[in-house]
Amino acid sequence: MSTDPALVTDREQAVTEEVLASFEATPDPRLREVMHSLVRHLHAFARDIRLSEHEWEIAIEFLTRAGHITDDRRQEFILLSDVLGLSMLTVAINEPSAPGATESTVFGPFFVDTAPEIPLGGDIARGAAGIPCYVSGRVRSVTGEPIVGARIEVWEADADGFYDVQYPDGRSAGRGWLRSGENGEYRFWSVLPAPYPIPHDGPVGDLLAATDRGPMRPAHLHFMVTAPDFRSLITHIFVAGDPYLDCDAVFGVKDNLVVEAVRHTDTAAPDGSHPGGAWTSITFDLVLATHDGR
Ligand code: BEZ
Ligand code: FE
Repeated sequence: MSTDPALVTDREQAVTEEVLASFEATPDPRLREVMHSLVRHLHAFARDIRLSEHEWEIAIEFLTRAGHITDDRRQEFILLSDVLGLSMLTVAINEPSAPGATESTVFGPFFVDTAPEIPLGGDIARGAAGIPCYVSGRVRSVTGEPIVGARIEVWEADADGFYDVQYPDGRSAGRGWLRSGENGEYRFWSVLPAPYPIPHDGPVGDLLAATDRGPMRPAHLHFMVTAPDFRSLITHIFVAGDPYLDCDAVFGVKDNLVVEAVRHTDTAAPDGSHPGGAWTSITFDLVLATHDGR
């Protein structure tokens, strides 16, 4: 084999050209575009880093481990997408352009589609450990009209940093759904969320350790809001002051999703109840864009 740089470049380019040509007859034009771009960028990446055969084997082993640890409760490939920022890049590419709409962030692996319905003002904590937190606001359009009857799904980790599905006892806590009221208002009790590590006992965790990155996510409350005629919103609110806001393992933090959790002691809550001892409150409007981005 020649080591003449010009011949090496030609030899490498010939491989790329041959692979590109193999996708030329793809009937679906979008699939053809995607495969062409993937091959061009993947080959450019291998050339850029001068990929060794040993490194290629390590990459294959890594992906094989990711496959083996993945099941219907654990999705290591999404986790990989998350820590590489691909999930947040995809969110950014698809974000509606409507100024004033609440920004989106990652979905995460802990949503459950069988959470219970709770009444307006009810409690989604349902036994989850933590300081009570009263969350309220309005669901509205970017032009300020109330969105009545929006379905609001909420889920969160408890004060120990665990979602209910991470406990082995099959509990359901720290999640629920409700509908916005006749003026678009919503309110519910939850617990103040805590920071927690993403699952890091698999290959993605090893990658974080090898690159001196941490697995922590700042404390947050997940929302998924749906209403007819509006784009669905998948987002979180983050608690101001959290030590991990600047180093979220999955890059999900956006400045306007960071909100103050106001601390109260021994006072009555807005719904007239007396939580007794310390409690907190968060106010946050959920602003939805229409399908055409307004
Ligand atoms: C979460 O917020 O639940 C999450 C998001 C991405 C990866 C792991 C967890
Ligand atoms: Fe989460």
